Amino acid sequence: MKRVIKEMGKLWPYYLLGSIALIVSLILNFYNPVVLQRMIDEVIKEGQIDQFRTLGMLMLLLTFGRALTGYFKELLFDLGGLNLAVSIRQQLFDHIQSLSYDFFDEKNTGELMSRVKEDVDNVWMGTSFGLFLTVEMLLTMGTAVTLMFRIHPGLTLMIVPVLPVLAYLTIRLNLTNVKVFEDISEQTATMNTTAGEDIAGIRMVKSFAREKHEIEKFLKNNQEYYRLNYNQAKVLARFYPTIEFIMNVLPVILIVAGGAYVIQAKLSIGVLAEFSAYASMAMWPMRMTGWIATLMAQAGSSAKKIDQIFACQSKIENKENGIKSGKIKGNIRFDGVSLELDNMTLLKNVSFEVKPGKTLAIMGSTGSGKSLITKLLARFYDASAGTIYLDEIPIKDYDLFFLRKQFSFVLQNVFLFSESIAENISLGQGKTLAPDDLERFAEDAMAHQFISQMEKSYDTVIGEKGIGLSGGQKQRISIARAFARKSPVLILDDSTSALDMETESSIQKNIEHYGEITKIIVAHRISAVKNADEILVIEGGQIVERGKHEELLALKGHYYETYQEQMEFLVA
Ligand SMILES: Nc1ncnc2c1ncn2[C@@H]1O[C@H](COP(=O)(O)OP(=O)(O)OP(=O)(O)O)[C@@H](O)[C@H]1O
Ligand SMILES: [Mg+2]
Repeated sequence: MKRVIKEMGKLWPYYLLGSIALIVSLILNFYNPVVLQRMIDEVIKEGQIDQFRTLGMLMLLLTFGRALTGYFKELLFDLGGLNLAVSIRQQLFDHIQSLSYDFFDEKNTGELMSRVKEDVDNVWMGTSFGLFLTVEMLLTMGTAVTLMFRIHPGLTLMIVPVLPVLAYLTIRLNLTNVKVFEDISEQTATMNTTAGEDIAGIRMVKSFAREKHEIEKFLKNNQEYYRLNYNQAKVLARFYPTIEFIMNVLPVILIVAGGAYVIQAKLSIGVLAEFSAYASMAMWPMRMTGWIATLMAQAGSSAKKIDQIFACQSKIENKENGIKSGKIKGNIRFDGVSLELDNMTLLKNVSFEVKPGKTLAIMGSTGSGKSLITKLLARFYDASAGTIYLDEIPIKDYDLFFLRKQFSFVLQNVFLFSESIAENISLGQGKTLAPDDLERFAEDAMAHQFISQMEKSYDTVIGEKGIGLSGGQKQRISIARAFARKSPVLILDDSTSALDMETESSIQKNIEHYGEITKIIVAHRISAVKNADEILVIEGGQIVERGKHEELLALKGHYYETYQEQMEFLVA
């Protein structure tokens, strides 16, 4: 909320000019009944026809003026709200981008999409329409009641006591609405997640013939959404008839009591008309209270949700004045590194060193902690104990972005953007690479051949809106991307698993072109690791064996067993 108010402060010209337009429009609005009164009392009753033209012109001018100021009022407040939404949305997105892995481990995409889209939109509505309607409502009511008092205190007192009742109903309505709306907003997020997952995972859904199940799951969500909105409708339905009833009783009171005054000649008809006009001005906002209450409730609850995201801080602290320049040679050392997440010890006392330009391979069964070791390097998580050094300087002493630039990752789950192959390979370069470079990196990643066979070659758009690629093709594009980044350390996390052994071994040979970079290769296949300078075997988060290929075979342990199994598989 504070952030919203602060942002609104920055947009003060819109709100100031909007308020001026609002006030001028109100003044013009309140001038209308005065003209009306003179029209009735002077022109119609007393037959002062000469006034007719002047008053008629005045009425026309007032109407025109109100339309004009009304236009500016809407436009300026809307622009204020719109700018606010753009700014908050950008800040929110920047903030989300800055958060660490653990945040994304917990939150799902649908929820975050809801925050960035619907919740920011709600704040926008609240700070544009909601805001000016509230201000207009209060000013109109206040002025109308004051003017009514000046005309006839007695008559005013018959009507004004109804206002607090209406206000009470409005506040009750508002409070009930906040709660209902929070539920609706949660459900929107859930629905977004379900729809998002089902659409993104549609191939999986189809391959498991799960369409019916997924449709039912979505139907349940949709029904729940319906139920919650129905609740909101019920809340409105509970309060509205009472509000409507009160509003309809008022004109009756006016006609009966006011009429009596007119008959007793205590009030002219023109003044009664003027009074009635003010009375209806004091009452009209009540008709909108339900809507405004909903708008404001939504905006408030959304602002709260947005604040919760802003309150999340990255667990990875970026050191102030961390090292951010110099040439990194790529010497990596883990010294007694352990990692605990969610109270589980996932890595225990891991120590190793890779000299610049050398290759370290990591093997081990699935879930043993191989990927986590690589994630610690780039500080996607921070070690719970021990120290990790890059060129003999603890990684925490580097500027986080500088540190991450030193690594080229080929992640286990390849992610390619829905852009052209050229853009995907150039990711992180700030510009698309020259064709020669693209080809060179793609050739090293054994990707050039299949890319050049495509009709649009490197300009082929892949992903959601483009063509599909095989798992191995995606892996090779992401290897080319990592080569192109030319960082001092290359990390391949199970990156050749989808490739045949021949292609894999060609890529391994090509990696030699990058002799000066340090390589960390995570793999399940002996063929992918056997040439490494050191091989670590991880089990249950600990290093259980280490050495070169021949040394590990001689140990006759885990590595040897894996070797035997894979050889048998090949012979069989
Ligand atoms: N963010 C996390 N929070 C809690 N546990 C995690 C988290 N990330 C990984 N783990 C757990 O840590 C263990 C090691 O995970 P890791 O991804 O390093 O396995 P891996 O050796 O790379 O396996 P694979 O060969 O299947 O890729 C697993 O048991 C996993 O469930
Ligand atoms: Mg892994």
